[in-house]
Amino acid sequence: MNKYYIETFGCQMNVHESEKLAGLMEERGLVLAPAASEADVIIFNTCCIRDTAEKKIEGYIGELKALKRSNPDKILAVTGCMTQQVGRAEALKKRFPFIDIILGTANQYDISEKIDELLSLKKRRAQIDISFCDSPRVREDVPVCRTSFPNAWVNIMYGCNNFCTYCIVPYVRGRERSRAKSDILGEIRSLTDKGYAEITLLGQNVDSYGSDFKDGTNFYKLLKDISEIDGKFRVRFMTSHPKDISEEVIKIIAETPNFCKNVHLPVQAGSDAVLKAMNRKYTRSRYLELIDLIRKYMPDCGITTDVMVGFPGETDADFEDTVDLIERVRFQNAFTFVYSPRAGTPAALMEQVAPEVKKERITRLVALQNRISDEISSEYLNKTEEILVEDAPRDGVLVGRTDSGRLVSFHGEKSLIGSFVNVRITSNKASALFGERVENG
Ligand code: 5AD
Ligand code: SF4
Repeated sequence: MNKYYIETFGCQMNVHESEKLAGLMEERGLVLAPAASEADVIIFNTCCIRDTAEKKIEGYIGELKALKRSNPDKILAVTGCMTQQVGRAEALKKRFPFIDIILGTANQYDISEKIDELLSLKKRRAQIDISFCDSPRVREDVPVCRTSFPNAWVNIMYGCNNFCTYCIVPYVRGRERSRAKSDILGEIRSLTDKGYAEITLLGQNVDSYGSDFKDGTNFYKLLKDISEIDGKFRVRFMTSHPKDISEEVIKIIAETPNFCKNVHLPVQAGSDAVLKAMNRKYTRSRYLELIDLIRKYMPDCGITTDVMVGFPGETDADFEDTVDLIERVRFQNAFTFVYSPRAGTPAALMEQVAPEVKKERITRLVALQNRISDEISSEYLNKTEEILVEDAPRDGVLVGRTDSGRLVSFHGEKSLIGSFVNVRITSNKASALFGERVENG
């Protein structure tokens, strides 16, 4: 056994957890294979936030059947959120009997031990372990093999206590658990020392960081300590919750040069009736007040959101409220979703909106947001922006992000990855920006 391959589905949290699974594989002496077909260990780190995600994953797992038949020694492991749903691991095993290991969100880092167990058996028997408790311990002992230089993902907390009525996350990831502040600060210092130029703090609800310690630790105090770390690097974070984000958090982002003027604040819906049915615990007017507050302290802040159509009971008037809110706020970008019933969540039992109505609404919403994103893009024309170079997708072409989070493409050498350069924006196409490098000055 010498090669591994990881296919990751879902959010940044999963992307980072895959970096830890990769760390565990490298610790065993395996190296990354360029494709699943060349790997001895294939890991699927899964998501179940919407039905579309699960269908896609099942499709990919199905494709591995032929590969496993031609080489039964390959090990196929399925980990993460999808497996943690009630009855899902058994159903997966039944449908795809060639899966060797299934691990849930609380024990996926036991993968190495499970591989050893599997290899010690005379006749292979699937290792399925999705044991779960609501508050699994925070593990600081897992090696990380980072894949997103110059950005580094840093978890600050795990789980969620909010139980939005549409959302499966609290059921598959358990209650909020924060990492100790000293561990987070130590990790950030060591990353910036190694040249990582962007730190993205991750949590399902970063604004409630520390509340489980019950000693006054909070997200603002964490940001304050991070703001005191020397060096030039960017800090972003996701995801904030409108019911919890505080004025002092908004102020410290505004006042700290290293903190990106970029806030992701999911609104989900623009109607009070729908927000209430979603258990979001804020109103439309409170959300709009927060937007005003962010813009008061940071007029150029790139504000992005998540928004959903077709939540059970959403009327035409409710949907018009969402359209109106999107027009008022003018988000830099919005991730738009069609509500997808998730078994075990309260909303799955409510009266559903007809599929054709959902389709009409999402089409309208996407067109509206595209127009707004395009208009906001044009406002960047001729401006010079500081860009952190993140990647070179083609020879001589670089991409990076503005402080506000917009992606910009321009010409330059690959060696610039990880550096800050000044770029004048020369054109735009929908939400993509194009520019040319100007001397840093
Ligand atoms: N259906 C559709 N979208 C969902 N999201 C969460 N649960 C669902 C669901 N059941 C969306 C929310 C959340 C984002 C990560 O995914 O908008 O903010
Ligand atoms: Fe899901 Fe709501 Fe928790 Fe976000 S805050 S993870 S949408 S339950």
